[in-house]
Amino acid sequence: SLAKVKSRGVLVMGTSPDYAPYEFIINKDGKNEVVGMDVEVGKAIAKKMGVKLEIKQMDFDSLLVALQTGKVDMVLSAMTPTASRAKSVAFSNVYYKAKQYIIVNKNEKDLYKDKSSFAGKK
Ligand code: ARG
Repeated sequence: SLAKVKSRGVLVMGTSPDYAPYEFIINKDGKNEVVGMDVEVGKAIAKKMGVKLEIKQMDFDSLLVALQTGKVDMVLSAMTPTASRAKSVAFSNVYYKAKQYIIVNKNEKDLYKDKSSFAGKK
């Protein structure tokens, strides 16, 4: 709970750091470190609360159980809200929405009208 986090002085974030650029592991001076956009978001939340951020790494599939059993206080792991997940946990508002594009050369743009244009291409 919020009161618990404040009295402990530590906010525990669960994440599965196998998903760059959201959360991944880098080796810094011989030490493994969890980094990524979600880690920055977690740090900003902890800072705003005036507590330290602790990161617990686990398999993606273990995250919601860890949350429900109180092993972590929150999950940030590029997790998409789905109806079935929302039955057991509460999702925040969206903090990041991605738009992705396929880029081709200008002189070939008329060759690719829709996804069927890619059939049989290699
Ligand atoms: N957005 C997808 C989902 O919610 C994949 C997230 C995977 N995240 C991770 N840290 N491995 O199912």
